[in-house]
Amino acid sequence: MKKKLIAGNWKMNGSLAANELLIRHLLSGLGEPSCDVAVCVPFVYLAQCQGLLAGSAIALGAQDISCHDAGAYTGEIAPAMLKEFGLRYAIVGHSERRQYHGESDETVALKAQKALGCGMTPIVCVGETLSEREAGKTEEVVKRQLAAVIHANGHCISEVVVAYEPVWAIGTGLSATAEQAQHVHAVLRAQLKAATPHADRIKLLYGGSMNAVNASELLAQPDIDGGLIGGAALKAQDFLTIIAAAISC
Ligand code: 13P
Repeated sequence: MKKKLIAGNWKMNGSLAANELLIRHLLSGLGEPSCDVAVCVPFVYLAQCQGLLAGSAIALGAQDISCHDAGAYTGEIAPAMLKEFGLRYAIVGHSERRQYHGESDETVALKAQKALGCGMTPIVCVGETLSEREAGKTEEVVKRQLAAVIHANGHCISEVVVAYEPVWAIGTGLSATAEQAQHVHAVLRAQLKAATPHADRIKLLYGGSMNAVNASELLAQPDIDGGLIGGAALKAQDFLTIIAAAISC
């Protein structure tokens, strides 16, 4: 059975002092987990977190990556720069980037390609807004978002992680039900199966108000291979509880 992946997305939170406390707490409670664990931290804390996590079972990730390699792109962070910090993952296409920074499906697909080109695993986020769900467009939206990534990445698509994050569930405390999430995950799995014979090994994460209470039920679904955790990843005990739920599924 494939290992589940529990990835924390710290978003724009943290401080040098708070990060150290959080990571030390996680490391002391973690042991040798039989699932994959990662934290995706703000760029400015990559060096600090790389040091704190060295030799540990927690992998490091970024929350974004430039779709350019180098040059006059003020404020952007190049794939090769991220690689220097020992990154395993880069989130691409988070709905907050799509919404507040105008990232298109094509830009997200290119970012996934750049991450793969540097040996990192992109965590590709897809998900519908509340109005899209209410209009019955959930499948159409997530399939369109994933299709762009499949199109740009060819056979490498089997190396990505996909995170289904319904926008209406992010930071709202209103998680998708296990049935709602499983339904969309099955749609995504079928789409991936049509693109690669290795679709079964692609990890499909759920994200959106996953917490210490609802994680077990979500993670028990057949096509939910892990979680992308926002708020609950900032509380060491909650994050550890979600990891324990992933291990016991
Ligand atoms: P919350 O867990 O805070 O809802 O955030 C989910 C998310 O956006 C992870 O990328």
